[in-house]
Amino acid sequence: MSWQLDATPWISADAEWLIVGVPETFELTGSYASLDKALAGQMTRLKETGDLTGKLAETVALRGVQGIKARRLLFVGLGKGDQQTEAGLNKAFLTAIRQITSKTQQTVAVAIPSGLTSTPAAITRIIASALQISGEGQDLYRVERARYPLASAQLLADTGSDLTALRAAATEGTVIGDAVNLARELVNQPPSVLFPVSFAQRAEKVAAECGLKCEIFDEPRLRQERMNALLAVNQGSVQAPRVVVLEYNQAPAGSPTLTIVGKGVTFDSGGLSLKPTDSMLTMKCDMAGAATVLGTMQAIAKLKLPVHVRGLMGLVENMPSGSAFKLGDVMHARNGVTIENQNTDAEGRLVLADVLSYAVDQGTDCIVDLATLTGACVVALGEEVVGAFSNNQGWCDQLLGAAARMGEDTWQMPMWDHFNELIKSEIADIRNTGGRWGGAITAAKFLEKFVGGKPWVHLDIAGPAFAGSTKPHREGGGTGVMVKTLVELARTFKKP
Ligand code: BES
Ligand code: MN
Ligand code: ZN
Repeated sequence: MSWQLDATPWISADAEWLIVGVPETFELTGSYASLDKALAGQMTRLKETGDLTGKLAETVALRGVQGIKARRLLFVGLGKGDQQTEAGLNKAFLTAIRQITSKTQQTVAVAIPSGLTSTPAAITRIIASALQISGEGQDLYRVERARYPLASAQLLADTGSDLTALRAAATEGTVIGDAVNLARELVNQPPSVLFPVSFAQRAEKVAAECGLKCEIFDEPRLRQERMNALLAVNQGSVQAPRVVVLEYNQAPAGSPTLTIVGKGVTFDSGGLSLKPTDSMLTMKCDMAGAATVLGTMQAIAKLKLPVHVRGLMGLVENMPSGSAFKLGDVMHARNGVTIENQNTDAEGRLVLADVLSYAVDQGTDCIVDLATLTGACVVALGEEVVGAFSNNQGWCDQLLGAAARMGEDTWQMPMWDHFNELIKSEIADIRNTGGRWGGAITAAKFLEKFVGGKPWVHLDIAGPAFAGSTKPHREGGGTGVMVKTLVELARTFKKP
């Protein structure tokens, strides 16, 4: 999709659709007055009859309009002042634009509203992201698509605004939207299309396109690296495992290093501790952490952020077979910790254990890992909230701040020492399950054993990474959750 941004008056924008955001307390002044006049007072009438309220994400479509250049007009509510946040405006513009992308080859003009709680630059970035995200759905394998990319978009700025700054914001939004779409597409790919080797190839391609350093560990290399816990998980699969190491460095000398690590279980059957069908149905999504890492690295490189970031992905398939790892097996993890396997479905933490230990040995100042790690986190926080777990409050606050600014609901969970009791083993240093209670926390306490005391945040995205149903503001399937937050974290990264 191509876009342009100019100070074109709303009424002269030439497009199939003109989208105009309307705050809940709107007055018919300025551009709204010109639009109302061109429409022969139709906005006034809609307001009077209570058909145009400006309530957040409420839309009013007018077809066959006369008096303006666009063929159709779509009003979208921008809510009250305290709703005009990243999350609120994101919801409003996604809802509006998604109504248009159900038809092919649409052209759209979007007015950039001013006088809201968020700045015009922030709103421009939100609109540009929404234009990208709204054009892609779950149609990878459908003859008749339900959703189409837009043909072109115009962003309409107020006269007198700083067009250079707004264009930069639109470029940034487009890059972020593309990164979110990459993560969504990877999650949506079926598990027999996207498996560890094909995922690694895709990562290599992305890396080549945007100038990232890329190293891929095959099985002999993984053995050499002593990634025995990760290898054990993959043991029952006919697919070969991979670890991908991406690196991007445009930081001034002496800058700190950030490492992001993603769980990439391309299919989680549960292994010998086999999942029932209902739980297994969506387990192609168990690589969402790795997909987020790849999307984030792509965006950081395209935005040329002045940072040093590594992106690590642990790619395996968890399958039952005669060669699968067994309950009672003891693994020697890369950092020497021994692990008793009490449930082959608690595989994500085994994969992350070895990749985290590699991240530490490579030399890093801070770590963030992302994983669809536990159903317990979904029970605790629901399907829309990311669980955060950390060994360093300053670092966790940086992450929570970035998430809040980007409108991605994230909630910190406790990490008290006594949770360690629950992962003790009779025959090894630790075991990979913690029993029935506090399952998201015991999983995080497990991971903590592998970060070598480095400032670290674990993000459990088991709920929000995959949407079970389609809503007006978002498509079902992969969501790309936390891509925006991680890009924002990298943009504002400081050593804690
Ligand atoms: N991949 C699952 C967690 C998951 C559940 C992700 C629901 C997305 C949606 C993970 O590997 C898993 O199976 N965890 C077990 C851990 C248990 C066996 C200790 C769980 O949550 O039941
Ligand atoms: Mn599992
Ligand atoms: Zn899993």
